[in-house]
Amino acid sequence: MHSVGIMGAGSVGLYLGGCLQVVGASVVYVGRPTLLSALQNTGLRVTDYLGRDQTLAADALNLATHVSALAHCDLVLVTVKSAATADVALDLAQHLKPGAIVISFQNGVRNAEVLRAAMPSQTVLAGMVPFNVLSCGDGRFHQGSFGALDVAAHEGLSAYSGVFSRAGLAFNAQNDMPAVLWGKLLLNLNNAINALSNLPLKAELSQRDYRRCLSLAQREALALYSAAGIKPMQLTALPPHWLARLLTVPDWLFKRLAQRMLAMDPLARSSMWEDLEAGRRTEVDWIQGEVVTLASELGSRAPVNASLLQLIREAEQAGADRRSWSGAELLARLQSTSA
Ligand SMILES: NC(=O)c1ccc[n+]([C@@H]2O[C@H](COP(=O)([O-])OP(=O)(O)OC[C@H]3O[C@@H](n4cnc5c(N)ncnc54)[C@H](OP(=O)(O)O)[C@@H]3O)[C@@H](O)[C@H]2O)c1
Repeated sequence: MHSVGIMGAGSVGLYLGGCLQVVGASVVYVGRPTLLSALQNTGLRVTDYLGRDQTLAADALNLATHVSALAHCDLVLVTVKSAATADVALDLAQHLKPGAIVISFQNGVRNAEVLRAAMPSQTVLAGMVPFNVLSCGDGRFHQGSFGALDVAAHEGLSAYSGVFSRAGLAFNAQNDMPAVLWGKLLLNLNNAINALSNLPLKAELSQRDYRRCLSLAQREALALYSAAGIKPMQLTALPPHWLARLLTVPDWLFKRLAQRMLAMDPLARSSMWEDLEAGRRTEVDWIQGEVVTLASELGSRAPVNASLLQLIREAEQAGADRRSWSGAELLARLQSTSA
């Protein structure tokens, strides 16, 4: 049986690993000692908003704190936050067997490149997780929204498509992962807005002013993509430019037209909100930061995304004292910077 390694046992890693192990995959989880020792008491439970509820007993979990535990794995899923990628890449390069397949299931557009540069003897593929996973405590990891995984097409993946499908994680093999990642980045621009709102995603996206903030951020990014020749993949029912417009319609109309976008667990939150809550560094530099960098490469500006980046930095600094932004306050702030 192929052995699957999880590099970064957190929300996404434990959810994906747990779903795969439940259907018989042999899974090794590498994570931080505190989280792993908590799992030794609780076991691992994976749930979703459509009724999945599966539990793995603590003694069934192969938990490790060092990358060397992945030395025998044929497939390794990298699920650390972007800030940790460069360090993890060096560790993986030292310990993985040649020819192992490594999939970056991270947000941001550059993580697979960083891994690939450090791992010439392994096959590194970009991946994308479209859904949200929340850590609910007591070893429970909950998928709160919908969507199928994307992975760069590669012949070596055929050995895994069966187990991923049985796990309810059927993936799309994509020939243009950069387009997928730039498309996902547009959606992830909401992570900062969600974190600043201090609300669950569904409550935040149900309010027009927050959606208008997202629309401003997306339209700014789309103009830069267009100037740079980047063609983002359409990942929602509407093409990206149309979605940016739909976001601005009144609440009653949005609820009617965007039912799929709001089809999520009312408790789901962005992982950027979770990072702020836990006092961790967020991924804002790999999300809003990419738009700001793109603007500067083009000799242009990205004031809306630069403001969101700045507000998240301030929230990181403020820790538990950070403020919550109402939709109207945030919109006024973003409109003033883009005027
Ligand atoms: N959560 C979501 O809903 C979601 C959805 C789609 C995509 N994503 C993306 O998926 C990626 C993972 O997100 P996540 O929310 O699962 O992150 P997470 O909960 O923070 O999990 C990552 C875990 O890996 C640990 N880690 C980092 N470096 C390590 C090392 N060298 N050895 C052992 N453990 C290490 C982290 O510990 P420390 O915190 O101590 O570093 C953390 O516990 C991100 O790029 C995120 O944007 C997340």
